[in-house]
Amino acid sequence: MTEINQPPEPRGELTLQTIAMPKDTNSSGDIFGGWLLSQMDLGSSILAQRVAKGRVATVAISEMSFLRPVPVGAIVSCYCELMQVGSSSMTINVEVWINIESTNEPAKVTEGQFVFVAIDERGKTRTVSKDK
Ligand SMILES: CC(C)(COP(=O)(O)OP(=O)(O)OC[C@H]1O[C@@H](n2cnc3c(N)ncnc32)[C@H](O)[C@@H]1OP(=O)(O)O)[C@@H](O)C(=O)NCCC(=O)NCCS
Repeated sequence: MTEINQPPEPRGELTLQTIAMPKDTNSSGDIFGGWLLSQMDLGSSILAQRVAKGRVATVAISEMSFLRPVPVGAIVSCYCELMQVGSSSMTINVEVWINIESTNEPAKVTEGQFVFVAIDERGKTRTVSKDK
């Protein structure tokens, strides 16, 4: 039987975890969106490099949503799921989650889709093997 009222869960595998520091804040004292985007890029590149078995470059970011603010000191967890593999490209869904301090409940703070391209040592596209 399906459980109802289950707390929401992150989608994908945990590829990166870090702590939001005071130097990463915006003028309101919350964590700067660009810093979060950078963590998502790093986290998804870890999965992309593994799938591509080598060097990759970010070619596109879409469906970016900033859902709620991130306070200083939050443990920021980046979850990634491989959605699609093309000839040279990989589309990865990325979610960032924190634990809300007052309730200790997990909450999704950002999500987006990152497209990486496998590149060779000269920066030219190369084919990604679909073998696991
Ligand atoms: C990555 C790069 C080598 C690709 O070169 P390119 O000439 O655009 O390559 P192509 O047009 O053959 O596209 C390669 C793949 O990317 C996909 N792609 C390219 N632009 C895309 C976009 N805006 N959105 C989604 N997919 C895209 C293509 O569909 C293709 O997929 P496929 O091989 O799976 O069919 C080149 O764009 C580049 O060097 N970009 C800069 C990368 C960078 O510096 N990133 C930031 C720092 S990591």
